[in-house]
Amino acid sequence: MTEPPVSPPLGMLAELTHRCPLHCPYCSNPLELVPRTKELTFEQWTEVLTSARELGVVQMHLSGGEPLARPDLPQLVEHARRLGAYVNLVTSGVGLTAARAEELARRGVDHVQLSLQDADPTTADAIAGARVHVAKRAAAEAITAAGLPLTVNVVLHRRNIDRVEQIVDYAVDLGADRVELANTQYYGWGLRNRAALLPTVAQLTVAQQAVARAETKYAGGPELVYVTADYFAERPKPCMDGWGRLQLTVTPEGNVLPCPAASAITTLPVENVLRRPLAEIWYESKAFNAFRGTDWMPEPCRSCPERFTDFGGCRCQAFQLTGDAAATDPVCGFSPHRPRVDAVLLGDPVRDFVMREHTASCE
Ligand code: SF4
Ligand code: FES
Repeated sequence: MTEPPVSPPLGMLAELTHRCPLHCPYCSNPLELVPRTKELTFEQWTEVLTSARELGVVQMHLSGGEPLARPDLPQLVEHARRLGAYVNLVTSGVGLTAARAEELARRGVDHVQLSLQDADPTTADAIAGARVHVAKRAAAEAITAAGLPLTVNVVLHRRNIDRVEQIVDYAVDLGADRVELANTQYYGWGLRNRAALLPTVAQLTVAQQAVARAETKYAGGPELVYVTADYFAERPKPCMDGWGRLQLTVTPEGNVLPCPAASAITTLPVENVLRRPLAEIWYESKAFNAFRGTDWMPEPCRSCPERFTDFGGCRCQAFQLTGDAAATDPVCGFSPHRPRVDAVLLGDPVRDFVMREHTASCE
């Protein structure tokens, strides 16, 4: 079958900085963070945003780390808005005062995603590695007072999943228009903590029932989204909706990745906006073309009817668990590597997680 032509990207995740006031053990950013001194400058970021818009990007997700750590965030927002992009701010909320939220709304932010660690203040602060839970309420108030739509994002794991119902209630109380409850994905720093973060099957069963009750309770809104724990699934997630199909990521130093975790795939060449035009990277680079479409797939994906809907699963997971980024996602029950996932699920849990570290230059 002939592969369809490559379409322009719909969205870009712009990781403006890796600096962050939080130390979440599930952080999916790489082990090695980009120091402040290597971050793209304001002028370089504006060029990236312009090139992305020219390439066809319509949704710009300004993220990090913590994007509020960049003093030029309002100007970058304004630039993105002037280009006609939809601007989404992804933030921990730390430092988001009413005045800053109002300014960001005025400059062009369209929507805010606010992270929440737990409904229980003690556990929330323990997971964040900082006393930030109280500040989240202030941030949520600032966001809604500025008239911005609010999505509350919660990463679920063994320490908080038992309170998923209270977490939903708390997020609704914060004024969320949408609540995203996503089980931890094991990439970057989070992979280190997998044995401490993996929930049990019993926990997942109870959580699914709790989410179903919450969906009934909030049938009239806000919208609830529950992302299941993929190690426990029989089929993989359609990661990134296909490699190099809809999204690209630009890291703080300007590396351009087909997915935010793709720097873990050490067998792919590293592309950077300072060395090559963004459009050329999207359409012509080896990294972006490596797993586009279905021609690259080995068996059993190659002849599997699911390949057009799940795109063969996740390339980063395949690399992390097998050393081969082209392997069938080991989560898939048809994969010869599924026993590796089962072995992880049967492994002994670890009690304590290792908090996300930042080198001094990253803070
Ligand atoms: Fe998806 Fe490949 Fe598994 Fe089929 S064999 S379900 S295409 S990962
Ligand atoms: Fe990179 Fe799935 S996280 S392809």
